[in-house]
Amino acid sequence: MRKAIDELRNKREQAKLGGGKERTERQHKAGKLTARERLDILLDEGTFTEMDPFVVHRASEFELEEFPGDGVVTGYGTIHSRKVFVFAQDFTIYGGSLSEAHAEKICKIMDLAMKTGSPMIGLNDSGGARIQEGVVSLGGYADIFLRNTLASGVVPQISAVMGPCAGGAVYSPAITDFILMVKSSSYMYVTGPKVVKTVTHEEVSHEDLGGAGVHSSKSGVAHFMAENEIACLELIRELLTYMPQNNRSETPRRECDDPIDRHETELNELIPDNPNKPYDIKNVITKVVDHGKFLEVHQDWAQNIVIGFARLNGLSIGIVANQPAYLAGVLNINSSTKAARFVRFCDCFNIPLITFVDVPGFLPGTDQEWNGIIRHGSKLLYAYAEATVPKLTVITRKAYGGAYDVMSSKHIRGDFNYAWPTAEIAVMGPKGAVEIIYKREIEHAQNPEATAEKLANEYTEKFANPYIAAKRGYLDDVIEPAETRSVLIKSLEMLDSKRDTNPWKKHGNIPL
Ligand code: HXC
Repeated sequence: MRKAIDELRNKREQAKLGGGKERTERQHKAGKLTARERLDILLDEGTFTEMDPFVVHRASEFELEEFPGDGVVTGYGTIHSRKVFVFAQDFTIYGGSLSEAHAEKICKIMDLAMKTGSPMIGLNDSGGARIQEGVVSLGGYADIFLRNTLASGVVPQISAVMGPCAGGAVYSPAITDFILMVKSSSYMYVTGPKVVKTVTHEEVSHEDLGGAGVHSSKSGVAHFMAENEIACLELIRELLTYMPQNNRSETPRRECDDPIDRHETELNELIPDNPNKPYDIKNVITKVVDHGKFLEVHQDWAQNIVIGFARLNGLSIGIVANQPAYLAGVLNINSSTKAARFVRFCDCFNIPLITFVDVPGFLPGTDQEWNGIIRHGSKLLYAYAEATVPKLTVITRKAYGGAYDVMSSKHIRGDFNYAWPTAEIAVMGPKGAVEIIYKREIEHAQNPEATAEKLANEYTEKFANPYIAAKRGYLDDVIEPAETRSVLIKSLEMLDSKRDTNPWKKHGNIPL
């Protein structure tokens, strides 16, 4: 008996060594932690339970050494005392490449995450398909992709990319809800620099092709870029606090000691007198939410719209806000896609949506039209229209044209729609409007410029205010900016028993 127990202990110790001392040193030299070190930081101390530590590869074509665990550490533990399932690829074993057995280990915990309704977190650091295993490895990826897809909207899925993630392997993180990348040590691409050079003759580095900077600012693939691995793992812990365990769980709520009736008089002065002058919508958000704490998602991509998580009276909320300080807050292809996916995430997981509107419309031009602003803009409209979570909207200034409808308007089931007195709601801005409806008067006027200006002022007086919409009940109220926090909290409390459904369907057909 004693001998058997000693043997078990030895085997466990062996499994913890990964690919051995030398490869672990190489990992550290590259500025990276090992899979187990990462899990120690990610999970609450001492809560990790490992599964399948003795699994090894089954490849027989090559004489491959067997390493217990086969390049991935899997299991479960807790984050802020909540159960989560995790996998961490171990780059020290065959570069974290995915074998048949490695894939099966991941699938096993994904199945358990689904059965128990728990979030799933993947720490990716892998050279992709295990080359020596060929098609079996490709099959393993497909098994994971299927599970990612079936789990989508059922349990939150978070992916951190902490090293290479190449080829078809990128599509597992891509299907999950959030991707975090680490500055300077992670990259994702469908084809690497060598293939790029052969096919397109472009010379590009790993970093410039698919580094964290590229994906968090140019492509929008990564939702967050962390300065280093520790920051990345801590960010996952924070992100998770805003999400429920699964799609049947209540919205997370925590104690709140920020007064619910806190008046922010500064908000009454925030909107510039000149309607064409920008201001930073994040100043509105941080003044309204609990303790000014806002976790921004996609901070560096499509900055004309701001999205992220916060809390109101302790309740998790998702915020979508046009950003007048960037491209005047216009809706374009990237901002529509960015916000649409976020709206759908919040709707999947019962997180109420708060929308701040200051939008001059959709961005005109051939670039946008040729690249499909119609197709992409409609994603946001569709996402808001189908969302059944509580939806609160505050129009701070402009709400022009189709963008008025899109941004969680009353007509697409906004529950409470408010406007500040500075709101301008109309088919288009005064200048554009008078140029169309008074075209002849302006052309024939002695002083066309002055006439256009006078007519624009009259138009503004008549239409560019919130009261026409309020008279029709398209707005539930016009509120003082200073009282926004208390009004939103009161509305959310009222909606806490909201139930709304969509007609039965297999699934909708969102414009893709
Ligand atoms: C088997 C692999 C491997 C792989 C790396 N290794 N990738 N073993 N299959 N795919 C092994 C190496 O042999 C080495 O073993 C160890 O991992 C570390 O690799 P290095 O090359 O020494 O590390 P580094 O210099 O940091 O380079 C990392 C790398 C490079 C950029 C990831 O290894 C690389 O280019 N690998 C191949 C990537 C690739 O093309 N994968 C297939 C993508 S297509 P030792 O024993 O020396 O430690 C794909 C299809 C998926 O994945 C499709 C899904 C549908």
